[in-house]
Amino acid sequence: MKYIYDDLADRNILITGGAGFIGSNLALYFQKHHPLANIYVFDKFRDNTLFPSGNPTSLGHFKNLLDFRGEIIIGDITKDLHKLKNHNFDYIFHQAAISDTTTTDQNLVMQTNFEAFLQLYELAKEQNAMLIYASSAGTYGNTPAPNRIGIAEVPENVYGYSKLNMDIFTQKELAKDSKIPIIGLRYFNVFGPHETFKGKTASMILQLGLQALEYKKVRLFEFGEQRRDFVYIKDVIQANIKAIEAQKSGIYNVGSGVSSSFNDVIAALKDELGGFEVEYIKNPYSFFQTHTQADISLSQEFLSYTPRFSLRDGIKAYIPEIRRIFEQKLFC
Ligand SMILES: NC(=O)c1ccc[n+]([C@@H]2O[C@H](COP(=O)([O-])OP(=O)(O)OC[C@H]3O[C@@H](n4cnc5c(N)ncnc54)[C@H](O)[C@@H]3O)[C@@H](O)[C@H]2O)c1
Repeated sequence: MKYIYDDLADRNILITGGAGFIGSNLALYFQKHHPLANIYVFDKFRDNTLFPSGNPTSLGHFKNLLDFRGEIIIGDITKDLHKLKNHNFDYIFHQAAISDTTTTDQNLVMQTNFEAFLQLYELAKEQNAMLIYASSAGTYGNTPAPNRIGIAEVPENVYGYSKLNMDIFTQKELAKDSKIPIIGLRYFNVFGPHETFKGKTASMILQLGLQALEYKKVRLFEFGEQRRDFVYIKDVIQANIKAIEAQKSGIYNVGSGVSSSFNDVIAALKDELGGFEVEYIKNPYSFFQTHTQADISLSQEFLSYTPRFSLRDGIKAYIPEIRRIFEQKLFC
């Protein structure tokens, strides 16, 4: 049986976007827990090109992979998929994307996030690989929470639109009885180790934690009552593993299931780091999700996914790493 989840000995596992935040956590998880598996990372890494916002156009960083001993394939998902032919992958975890939700280059986002996914699906079919891919809470835009699969999916930016198109395509393929299992995981606001090199697009938990350590003061969009479903990286990894265990094709939300306000984040950070000042500033973004909360009932029922980290548990687990990033000046 090809997809039995055991020690994964000799199984070929591909992680696209493996030099990024979530991809590198997945690669290192498999390396640690499945040392007999063959693990491949595919990523273009960062180059020197910037979006008009000043953010890098790709965020992969070699330092996320310093402990990785598997194979690295360098390539651009939009044109180098031929490098992945003839590998006979069993599992493909597709994380590569323009993950910067503020990107306005619609052509580039659609090509990188949507079009390349269609090509990767063809490759997965050729190799009879299970495909598990990263979708996003951005598919829901600013519609009322709790957010449910199939309901009120109205993305407000091209990033969310590209992810929604991945999900729509997947649902159509599944309706036609797809030859391979395919599972889309709609991550909500992920935070935790290895997001350092995302710079300004890293989670607000890291950015506020670092501001508090450096200035004893943080800046927050007025008035901190925006609510998000923050999910700790270990729960996101759990969801990916549960996906390959359950082999239940479909689209699933991956959040904590709880919505917390930005002021809740501040309170939790203060408990861990001590007191600091909060300066409220105007939000410069015309589009901003004001309330997200994952309805995780389908993920619980079909994947047996159970989040283990509350916002406070996640922040507590992350604090030593935030301090290390600050002390070693690793943030860019
Ligand atoms: N972090 C979150 O909160 C979050 C939330 C929802 C969805 N997601 C999705 O999860 C996935 C991983 O996100 P992340 O936070 O790790 O982002 P990330 O930017 O750290 O990782 C994405 C990786 O893809 C690589 N990449 C970008 N363009 C590429 C291309 N053309 N060819 C090859 N590689 C390319 C980057 O170099 C980077 O290593 C993405 O698909 C993202 O959209 C993330």
